[in-house]
Order: sequence, then structure tokens, then C-alpha cells
Amino acid sequence: MDYFNPEKIVKDLMRKQKSNIIIEQRTKCECNRCQDRGIYMEGELAVPCQCVKRKALEKKFKNCQIPKSMLKHSFNNFQFSYYSNNIKEPLSKRTYLEIAQKTYQYAQEFARDFVKGNAYEGLLLQGPVGSGKTFLACCIVNHVLRNSDKEVLFVIVPDLLEKIKATYSNTGDYTEYSLVEAACGVPLLVMDDLGAHNYTDWTKNKLYNIINYRVNHELPTIITTNLFLAGDLTSLIGERTVSRIEQMCRPLWLERERDIREVLREEKAVQLRP
Ligand SMILES: Nc1ncnc2c1ncn2[C@@H]1O[C@H](COP(=O)(O)OP(=O)(O)OP(=O)(O)O)[C@@H](O)[C@H]1O
Ligand SMILES: [Mg+2]
Ligand SMILES: [Zn+2]
Repeated sequence: MDYFNPEKIVKDLMRKQKSNIIIEQRTKCECNRCQDRGIYMEGELAVPCQCVKRKALEKKFKNCQIPKSMLKHSFNNFQFSYYSNNIKEPLSKRTYLEIAQKTYQYAQEFARDFVKGNAYEGLLLQGPVGSGKTFLACCIVNHVLRNSDKEVLFVIVPDLLEKIKATYSNTGDYTEYSLVEAACGVPLLVMDDLGAHNYTDWTKNKLYNIINYRVNHELPTIITTNLFLAGDLTSLIGERTVSRIEQMCRPLWLERERDIREVLREEKAVQLRP
């Protein structure tokens, strides 16, 4: 008869407890290979674990505040098929594809120069909605974070202005000084979406302070916008700020036939079709 076997019960219990301990250890440690020690043994040899690099990279990405959905954008997955080989931009007479190729090349050169410590001039990425401006800015951020220890800060301009405004009324988590100071002094600043926004004299002034500081200290800035510098942007943020942007950023363009978001949505719909 097997229904009461104290020895088996104790054995089973011990086995269960042991496996629980192992499971518990596994879930507590993030890395199964080194149990978060940073090194593991290969025979007699202590080997540095890959997770250390990965965690450092994750921390860098977190500190740079790039949105999660944009982490994967890299020069390798920038597609040129969205830029027409036939349609020409009337002023330069170059096709949208040629423009995208040139812009991509300058962006890549900038990323490489910055890693080497040789980039003083920033970039101004201009173009219509859904033309890949933010995508390309993210490619640069990704390249820099993966290939250097240089600090990068990615700010979406309307968010930054809202955060600064919130500190003004003391409802936010940041102090105005720390935010503006971070945007001023970081070795590489990406200002995404400098566009139509309700700029008050006060936020205009903050924007001017940041840009003026960076020009004076030769700190490169990447700006994306879908407004024209000479027209819309000047009336929104003022001549003095625009003049400094012109001074510190190389102007680049991306032109597309259709909003790439729309193209992507259609591609997805086709894939989902039964
Ligand atoms: N060259 C590209 N290759 C692959 N995907 C792209 C490319 N350009 C844009 N995309 C994708 O298209 C979408 C829109 O791109 P993005 O956000 O860069 O546009 P944008 O020019 O910044 O637009 P907006 O002016 O509205 O901010 C994103 O989902 C992005 O991942
Ligand atoms: Mg954008
Ligand atoms: Zn590890």
C-alpha cells in the first residue's frame, strides 16, 4: 500500500522546496548566467557577462528619455523605398530619394563625428508630417549611445515646454532650473518637434536661453521641425532664436510623396487581410 508513506512525503516535500528555492533564485536574479554578479565561471576561468553591457546600455537609454517605441530605429533599418525616385523637389531639382540619401549621409557623418568628439555643428531636420525626421534623429541617438559614453538628451519640445511650465506653477516633479540646465549642458541635445505650439513670451524666452547657451558653448543640437524657418518658425519663436538655430545647425530636408505613417498603416492592413 502506498497511500501513507512518510518517507516519500518528506522526500517529495524536500524536492518541492528545493525546486522552489531554485525558482525563487531565478526570479530574483535578472541574469540567469551570472546571477547578477557580472562575471561567471567557464571552468576555472572568470568571464565577464554580457548582461553588464546590456544593463549599462538600458540605463543610458532610460536617462536619455527617448520614447520606448523609438529605441529600435537605427541607420540599418532606415528604408529608402518611401522616397520617390521620380518626383523632384522644384527648387533643388533633386528627387525625393536623392534628398533622403544626402540627408541620411549627413546624419550618419554627424553621428560618427560626434562619437569621435568632432561634431560642433548640429542638424536641422525639416520636412512635412511623416517624412522620417524623428526616425532619423533616433538613428543618430542610437548610434551615439551604442558607440560611446557620451550623454544624450532627447526632448519633445512641446513636452519640455509643458514640463517647464508645470515647474513654474510648482505642480511638476522637476525644478525649472534642473530641466533647463540639463537641456543646456548635455553634450548632445535632440529637440524633437519644434513646431506649432502656444508659445508664451515666457516659454519663448526659455527656448532662447537653451539655444543661446548651446551656440555659445559649441554644443551640437539636433532639431526636427515641419515649419519653415524663415516664415512660420520666426513668427512663433522669434527672430533671435531662429537666427541662432541657423547659425548652429546644418539645414537638411526629407521630402515624401505620402505620409509614411499612412503607408505603414496600409501595409499593415494588407498583411492582416485573410
Ligand atoms: N526611412 C524610414 N524607414 C522606415 N520607417 C520610417 C522611415 N521614416 C519614417 N518611418 C516610420 O514612419 C513613421 C513616421 O516617421 P517619423 O515619426 O520619423 O515622421 P516625422 O517626419 O517625424 O513626422 P512628424 O512631423 O509628424 O513628427 C514612424 O512610424 C517611423 O517609424
Ligand atoms: Mg516627428
Ligand atoms: Zn549576467
